[in-house]
Amino acid sequence: MVPRPGRVRRRSRETANVWTLELEPDGDGAEPGQFHMLYAMGVGEVPISVSGTSRDGGMVHTIRDAGAVSRALAGLRPGAGLGVRGPFGTGWPLAEAEGRDVVVMAGGIGLAPLRPVLRRLTGRGGKARRVALLYGARSPADLLYPRELDRWRARGAIVEVTVDHAVGGWDGKVGVVTALLGPGLFEPSRSLAMICGPEVMMRFSVAALMDLGMPAASIYVSLERNMKCAVGHCGHCQLGGTFVCRDGPVFRYDRAAPLLGVREL
Ligand SMILES: Cc1cc2nc3c(=O)[nH]c(=O)nc-3n(C[C@H](O)[C@H](O)[C@H](O)COP(=O)(O)OP(=O)(O)OC[C@H]3O[C@@H](n4cnc5c(N)ncnc54)[C@H](O)[C@@H]3O)c2cc1C
Ligand code: FES
Repeated sequence: MVPRPGRVRRRSRETANVWTLELEPDGDGAEPGQFHMLYAMGVGEVPISVSGTSRDGGMVHTIRDAGAVSRALAGLRPGAGLGVRGPFGTGWPLAEAEGRDVVVMAGGIGLAPLRPVLRRLTGRGGKARRVALLYGARSPADLLYPRELDRWRARGAIVEVTVDHAVGGWDGKVGVVTALLGPGLFEPSRSLAMICGPEVMMRFSVAALMDLGMPAASIYVSLERNMKCAVGHCGHCQLGGTFVCRDGPVFRYDRAAPLLGVREL
């Protein structure tokens, strides 16, 4: 429960209200899908997913300025201190990707926890049969990691992007992420899906994938709930016997469905 001292090594701007912080390495071995509790001194502590790892093991987090704590964290400059707890929670099922068609669906800041997945799947050791990323953002200016989107494309992944509002000469797709699902993206019997984004986006994405024949047990979602302790003690994220902080945030859909059914959990 006691945060360890961390230090920001690099800070880069992704969009108008999203920043990426690379921390000094401290031996942390977080896996894609896991999160840390980051503490902005004197302001508060919030859960933030791992969005990458530097070559020497420094943890990377991409933070959207959503309120007091996330704003304080996103504003930290290189050299600034912060508190770090974790890593916590379950990771994405990367071991299950071997030989399968992997469909990654992300909405908004939801691409951050999936970036390490895409890096691994499109990297040298990637063993998936096919990789497709379907990504939606509010506007072209809100798209995260544009250079990496091109890199993943260049490495053979199908990368489809859509926005809610086309502004600034955007000539790409406009509409919801599920509209990017089309024939030929995956073979239902040998596929795996990983989804992260606003809850409504995840619900529609799961329904669309299942309509196309993907079994619920092949679909994984990452749930976001208010968290305090992150270790299954305080009950903030609890539903019945399930703690999103400890048993999630990444759940197989057949196990997440009852949780997603409860509004304002
Ligand atoms: C497991 C997990 C991983 C996360 N990973 C990331 C990440 O990688 N990057 C990132 O930017 N954010 C991430 N978040 C969300 C982040 O924790 C919240 O944005 C943050 O807690 C907001 O706190 P605040 O004090 O800045 O704002 P607050 O003042 O607490 O909230 C500002 C607004 O955001 C809403 N909000 C607060 N918490 C959440 C939440 N958990 N989900 C949805 N809406 C919320 C509030 O209702 C309010 O409208 C993650 C959350 C969880 C549970
Ligand atoms: S955050 Fe305390 S039980 Fe999950």
